Amino acid sequence: MKNFIEIKNIIKPFDKIIEVSGDKSISIRCVLLASQAIGVSRIYNLLESEDVLNSLNSIKKLGINFKKKKNFYEIYGYGINGYNLNKNIIIDAGNSGTLARLILGLLVNTRKQVTIIGDKSLTRRDFNRVTNPIKLFGANIISNKGRLPVKIKGSEFLRPINYVEKLGSAQCKSSVMLAALKTPGTTIIKAKKSRNHTELIFKFLKIPTRITKTKEFDFLEIDGLSNFKGFEYIIPGDISSCAFFLVLALLSNKSKIVLKNINVNDSRIGIINILNNMNAKILLKNKKIYNGEKIADIIVRGNRELKSINCPESFNSSAIDEFLVIFLVAAKAKGISTFKNLSELNKKESPRLEIATNILKKIGVKYTRYSDNIKIYGNPNLKIKGKYKINNFRKDHRVFMMSCIAALTFGGEWRVEDKDSIKTSFPTFIELLKKLGAEII
Ligand code: S3P
Repeated sequence: MKNFIEIKNIIKPFDKIIEVSGDKSISIRCVLLASQAIGVSRIYNLLESEDVLNSLNSIKKLGINFKKKKNFYEIYGYGINGYNLNKNIIIDAGNSGTLARLILGLLVNTRKQVTIIGDKSLTRRDFNRVTNPIKLFGANIISNKGRLPVKIKGSEFLRPINYVEKLGSAQCKSSVMLAALKTPGTTIIKAKKSRNHTELIFKFLKIPTRITKTKEFDFLEIDGLSNFKGFEYIIPGDISSCAFFLVLALLSNKSKIVLKNINVNDSRIGIINILNNMNAKILLKNKKIYNGEKIADIIVRGNRELKSINCPESFNSSAIDEFLVIFLVAAKAKGISTFKNLSELNKKESPRLEIATNILKKIGVKYTRYSDNIKIYGNPNLKIKGKYKINNFRKDHRVFMMSCIAALTFGGEWRVEDKDSIKTSFPTFIELLKKLGAEII
């Protein structure tokens, strides 16, 4: 089957209510924590994407069974020491940095050697950022010069650590939190602000954790070795998937969209804060709190009065997965937008700052880039006519989806390669676009 799509027309005005699939970060955390619970956990609206299915397959390799039921998954845990390994195994994390990095924390006391491998993209990414702190607990780790494959053999004599997380990486913070869960004593973490789903699930599961906050850092104290029971969890919609539809509606004249039940945790709504600063007028309705997570319906209308932004760096972490589509909005906003210190963006599934600038260049959007900073010269009348082929040779799901949104709002004839990449995070993306009236061949 062909693995590319073609788009030749911009989308016609639409007015629709849609539901995007479950949040990827929370889905992976729920699977991993359910694998550590005592008894059965039921997880509803679990994202059925490759990253999450790889998480389920990973816990299975560690001796934890799961079953897909009608509209939920059941996972049968045996507590924090319940992984049952009598031989060395290999875990394939596929494309998922979150899975590979978080599971390392849970393997801090594994009795047999576990080798973590991944696809080409994951094999290029840095693992020192997690192996360094996990080694401090006492685990034995060998990596391929800081990259995959990473081999871990746990220790029986773990010690709690005192760790400073400076990157603003939720994956690093969470990996250390999960190792702390398995370690006697109190682990102390000082972490630059990043998404806090692991903290919220720890609180929901009553894992003893004390948190104090300053503007830039969160201080966590986690008492290890506390077992918890199986739980039920309904995963909310993923704001990172929702972001593509939000920008599609915003850049489509006379369109309106309501995105139902989206996770609008403060540590994830960088995109809404940034776009509202650009005069997007995005509304949140039906707000509620579920297990500590904020959830709301997001309402967006097409808007031709967008303004540029000098984006405060404090938004970088909470919008990190959304910058690709934010750049599209900047291209259509009046004035010059500036985004600074985006070095982490180049450390994702592909070097996204690099790739985004190549796409902007290809379609004639003016920008200047100096190291990890970018200035985009917006033009509200931007319309493009050429033929564009996006190779997406790094097979990055967000590059694929960003290119589709550009094609559906900017014009021109597009061919975007590697449709399969969306399977990692948002398999129903094309289906939903078609529901809104997009013509995709
Ligand atoms: C994630 C954290 C972010 C994000 C990734 C998912 C998570 O990565 O980019 O898609 O679930 O913790 P970093 O923590 O490395 O910034």
